[in-house]
Parts: sequence; structure tokens; C-alpha cells
Amino acid sequence: MPQKAIRDYIRTIPDFPKPGIRFRDVTTLLSDPAGLAMTIEQLADPYSDVGIDKVIGLEARGFILAGAVAHRLGAGFVPVRKAGKLPGAVISQSYSLEYGEATFELHEDAIEPGETVLIVDDLLATGGTAAAGAMLAERLGARIAACAFVVDLPDLGGHARLVQMGLTVQTLCA
Ligand code: PRP
Ligand code: ADE
Repeated sequence: MPQKAIRDYIRTIPDFPKPGIRFRDVTTLLSDPAGLAMTIEQLADPYSDVGIDKVIGLEARGFILAGAVAHRLGAGFVPVRKAGKLPGAVISQSYSLEYGEATFELHEDAIEPGETVLIVDDLLATGGTAAAGAMLAERLGARIAACAFVVDLPDLGGHARLVQMGLTVQTLCA
């Protein structure tokens, strides 16, 4: 039997969290040992010779991936969190996404100016979430090597939006 591809592990749940949204659920990918290993390898390995200092994970599903990617690259992990969760001094950025609005925060001492970072999340839809994460990292003087996602929903415009911002985008499946 041919090896399953990453997209084969991901299920689509209609009308979650709102009517009309086709929710791409990666829990079925992450719970499979082969699926999880393939995902972390494919997200991390293009950057093994880039000298990534920090991998930034976007709350919440990005955390699961970014920690493992950081470990594989020998880099540190930095969380970008929803407002009010980080205990130290933060910088903030509000954004909208496919089904709502939120504010992200980043510890102001989490990244040194000039450090090279990789931004990781599970899914790219409108790009609002990733754009906010990238803006926070750039405000601290980071050099963003790329933004890496498992799933791309290109019809929602996020991929084009990030490229328009001058960012490199990597996605594993659409
Ligand atoms: C989801 C997903 C991405 C974001 C993508 O997160 O994990 O972070 O939406 O959407 P966008 O490209 O339109 O911005 P969500 O805000 O649902 O948060 P969660 O990971 O905490 O569930
Ligand atoms: N985040 C934004 N849109 C999404 C979708 N369709 N499925 C899963 N996460 C999402």
C-alpha cells in the first residue's frame, strides 16, 4: 500500500466553529505517529542549514508543531500568545481571521534584533494570524526566514497576502 500523504490524515468538519466554515482538523494528523513525524520533518528540514535561532509558534495549534520543529533544528521556541497570557512585558498586535478577531502578544525580550526566526502554524487561511505574528517579530528586529504551515487554503488569500508582505511561505498541502 502506498504511504499516506499528509493531506490524507487531515479531516474536514463542516460548520465549525460557525456555519459555512469547513474546518480542517489536524488532530487526526498529530495523533498518528507516522503523520506527526512526517509533518515535523517536512516543516523543519528545509531550514536545517539556515541557522534558525528561534522558531515562533502561533497560539494554539502552532505551539504543538513549533516546539518539535525547534527541537529538530536545535533552535529555541518562542510563543506568540493571545492577549493576557504572557506574564512579562509584551508588544501587541490585533488581527482578524476567517471566523473572528483577536490580539496577539509577544514577550519584548523573546527575540534579539538580527536573530533569524521561522514562524510555524498549522493552517494559513486569510493570513491575518500569520501577518500579526510576523509584524510582532519584525518589530523586535527579527529576520524572518519563512512562515511554514501544514495546510494552505489559498482561496482565502493568506498565501498571496504574506508574499505581498515580502515573506517566504512554505505549505505542506492544500
Ligand atoms: C486558526 C489556525 C491559524 C489561524 C489561521 O487558529 O490555527 O492560527 O486560525 O487563520 P487566518 O489565516 O485566517 O488568520 P485559531 O485562531 O482558530 O486559534 P487556535 O489555534 O487557538 O484554535
Ligand atoms: N483557521 C482559519 N480557518 C480555518 C479552517 N477552515 N480550518 C481550521 N482552522 C482554521
